[in-house]
Amino acid sequence: MPFMEWDLSYELGIHEFDEHHKHLIYLINLTHDAIKSGVERDELGSVIDELVDYSTYHFAAEEQWMMVHRYPGMSDHVGEHARFTNWIVKIQEDFYTRKIWAAQEVLTFLITWLTDHILITDAKYGRFASKYGPALSGTPVDKNVCGVNF
Ligand SMILES: [Fe+2]
Ligand SMILES: [Fe+2]
Repeated sequence: MPFMEWDLSYELGIHEFDEHHKHLIYLINLTHDAIKSGVERDELGSVIDELVDYSTYHFAAEEQWMMVHRYPGMSDHVGEHARFTNWIVKIQEDFYTRKIWAAQEVLTFLITWLTDHILITDAKYGRFASKYGPALSGTPVDKNVCGVNF
């Protein structure tokens, strides 16, 4: 059984972003398993790198969607993304420079931040999308701008 499971309460109703969030939960599970099983340092490093890369990709995709749809809560939302990005990049730097790294605290912050962000902040643009109709929630984001597509 995975450490953290996808739950219907996380669903925004925008397929692309629901899939992104599922992948972020998968990466949190990988991070958890890597820390708990005491894997090689290189392997833990690649999990952290993937978490940084994928969260950057996901945030850019959400922000592009908000811009295209003139989402009124965009500025606060982007601020939350930026604070998380600063935190996780610092965690990544500390890991590679072998600074003291409290693994359990990292995991707890990751889970708390992600669940709060999806359930509270992302849910707001999910409601905005459903309020303005199915056409809005079904609008794809330009993959060329966002790069990787899962
Ligand atoms: Fe977000
Ligand atoms: Fe999100």
